[in-house]
Amino acid sequence: MKLKLKYGISAKDEDIVVFSYQDKINNLKPVLQKYIIASNILTRLGFTGKRDDVLELHPTDSHGSIIFLGLGEKGKSNSENARRAGGLLAGITVARSLKSVALVELPDQQDNLAAFVEGLILGGYDFNTFKSDKKPEPSLTLALNGEYKKLISEIEKAMTVAEAACYARDLINTPANFLTPTSYAAKVRALGKKYKISTRVYGKNEIQKLKMGAMLAVAEGSDQQPKLITFTYNGGKKGEAPIVLVGKGVTFDTGGISLKPNSGMQDMKNDMAGSATVIAQMIVLGTLKPKINVVGIVPAVENMPSGRALKPTDIITASDGQTIEVLNTDAEGRLILADGLCYAHKFKPKAILDIATLTGAVRYALGHNAAGILGKDDNLIEKLYYIGQKTGERVWQLPLWDEYYEQIKSNVADMKNVGGPAAGTITAAAFLSKFVKDIPWAHIDIAAMDNQEGSHPYQPKGATGYGVRLLAEFLMAD
Ligand code: BES
Ligand code: MN
Ligand code: ZN
Repeated sequence: MKLKLKYGISAKDEDIVVFSYQDKINNLKPVLQKYIIASNILTRLGFTGKRDDVLELHPTDSHGSIIFLGLGEKGKSNSENARRAGGLLAGITVARSLKSVALVELPDQQDNLAAFVEGLILGGYDFNTFKSDKKPEPSLTLALNGEYKKLISEIEKAMTVAEAACYARDLINTPANFLTPTSYAAKVRALGKKYKISTRVYGKNEIQKLKMGAMLAVAEGSDQQPKLITFTYNGGKKGEAPIVLVGKGVTFDTGGISLKPNSGMQDMKNDMAGSATVIAQMIVLGTLKPKINVVGIVPAVENMPSGRALKPTDIITASDGQTIEVLNTDAEGRLILADGLCYAHKFKPKAILDIATLTGAVRYALGHNAAGILGKDDNLIEKLYYIGQKTGERVWQLPLWDEYYEQIKSNVADMKNVGGPAAGTITAAAFLSKFVKDIPWAHIDIAAMDNQEGSHPYQPKGATGYGVRLLAEFLMAD
């Protein structure tokens, strides 16, 4: 959805949006009077102002509709409710082809207004690239009271981040016959040109020169060539240590020789979701131009079974020289990330964050309500926890105690790539940590958050782009 902002409300803004907190609908009496609406109508129609409450009224012929949106309990930290309200309005906008709405009786916290706008863009997303009967992208003008112009930078930031999340969704929703490591790299190059961010793509020969034996071993089973995709954004001082983001970019994960059953395979076009959240930061950085240095690293491969494919019990060597006994070729994400993490150290980063659809196990731990976060730097994790609360992309820490490392000890190599059925998300992170030297690092497992199957106010079915808001806010907060 294209969103235009307008400061100043005129009589021409036909449709009107009114917010209310839970059980505060009495505060709306003046609004009801103004539009000659009976004062008890909201109660009669069951609108109480709780979260996700929506009521649309058509008062007189001369007016457009009045849309009431609930924001839940006042005083609680409820920017997520405002985001949801934005998503619900997006649904109405599309269904009723609204063109212009005025916001009156605004949510009283500025966080809420930015979150509302974010929800509007996120909720208005539609992936129609492959539909023959494409409808034009809906566009909405949002009229705000002129005094809200002071929030313009907050609102524009929210719009940029939401648009970046929609870009990530496009990448993730694109199936693997259209998004290969090679076409992915081309898209990133184009993005780099557009936003004036330098990119570098390493092909198979260069990856070989970098001795990335783990990444190469995963790619070997596929006819698609691997690519190591990187971008470098220098908005900060020259020489200032960057934040390095590493994203899992498996364009399709069949499991390899440890082949997945068909039921679990369909979700695996999303297995590059972590990388998409990293690449989407190029839009955020290129638009908002924060004074920081950031490097993005995406090992992009396809995990396929074939005569050349990696086999269970093969031993491979990562670029830092550590050897890995591969006992399950479906635990491929940690293999490519191992080389990605090794490479991150070349930039002498002040922090490394990796984000990945790494383990099915994370859904047993946390369900679909938070990403798992693990690492050894409590400050970094705490910071991400609070940013998760603020952005609505929550993370929850799982432990990384020494005992878990027993599970990934190998008899024949430095480690093995699976740790058995217990604590799968933790042993995967323990494996990754072996490739991180003394640098603050956190790993975010989004395997239960990357896809929306049910209905949700601002996340249409398909890729969610989960992590884009979290990473953006993390970079900006720096
Ligand atoms: N990409 C999957 C993880 C995944 C599973 C993401 C379900 C989203 C939904 C990953 O490569 C994988 O296959 N992990 C295995 C690890 C196991 C073999 C140790 C898993 O979780 O089953
Ligand atoms: Mn896998
Ligand atoms: Zn995978």
